[in-house]
Amino acid sequence: MSAKKEILVETDGPVGVITLNRPEALNALNHALMEQLIAAVEDFEAAPPIRAIVIAGSERAFAAGADIKEMDQATPAQMKADPHLSRWDRLGKCSKPTIAAVSGFALGGGCELAMACDMIVASESAVFGQPEILIGVIPGAGGTQRLTRAIGKSRAMELVLTGRRFTAREAHAWGLVNRVVPVEAFLTEAKKLAQEIAAKPPIAVSAAKDAINKALDVDLDTGLSLERQLFYSLFDTQDQKEGMKAFIEKREPRFVGK
Ligand code: CAA
Repeated sequence: MSAKKEILVETDGPVGVITLNRPEALNALNHALMEQLIAAVEDFEAAPPIRAIVIAGSERAFAAGADIKEMDQATPAQMKADPHLSRWDRLGKCSKPTIAAVSGFALGGGCELAMACDMIVASESAVFGQPEILIGVIPGAGGTQRLTRAIGKSRAMELVLTGRRFTAREAHAWGLVNRVVPVEAFLTEAKKLAQEIAAKPPIAVSAAKDAINKALDVDLDTGLSLERQLFYSLFDTQDQKEGMKAFIEKREPRFVGK
């Protein structure tokens, strides 16, 4: 008997779509789901035709957090020995652009999963939050770090210390979410954004992603220097030659990803 599929994987041209598939637990992120999710991300990253990745939940829940039933009896040593939380970092390090398509609950690890993606498209019903404090812990998959970087210290402090949920509109106003769309359109809009990016020259997309992510981690001089090196390196690509030639010849470029 094959193992239950905690995710569904499909492709839509150059876009890889991963859908979390544990409706009975509101897509709580158990070990099996996370293993399958990271493996799918790695497969898409290694597949040249795939140029952008969408991670989606259902209309009711993106993900209601790490699976509480898998860890309620754990000791610190067991939690530390468990490779799963550190495996989460793999998603943030994916070289291809990632978009979270969020509707319904995105709580705890669910909010952290969305924030580990490069962009978030949210439905009007999306509810975000880091409620770990309400069950005696703190975010353990990046919540204190990514939320703070995204929305600032005071807001992150209040949200993590109270566990209060926040709406898609609040998340959008604070810059956490790229756009808020009607519930029925959240997946289509996320895919549309992914398709738009997938049509761009992939080596430049990856370089831009790398440079923007570094902007959050390094001082300005280091960041500017890194940006310049990446900029120079793109002059070694066919897509740079084609992009600039097409501009001069007043035609659409044909990017080949080289
Ligand atoms: N872990 C395990 N199971 C979960 C779960 C979770 N995080 N969230 C929901 N479920 C399960 C419920 O136990 C329930 O299962 P049963 O039918 O077998 O009882 C099922 O999903 C449906 O959930 P509810 O009946 O609770 O649905 P609701 O609509 O009444 O409430 C909810 C929805 C507000 C999201 C509520 O389920 C909830 O508060 N979930 C927990 C949210 C949370 O605390 N997340 C943080 C987890 S810790 C974490 O993520 C650590 C980290 O940083 C990595």
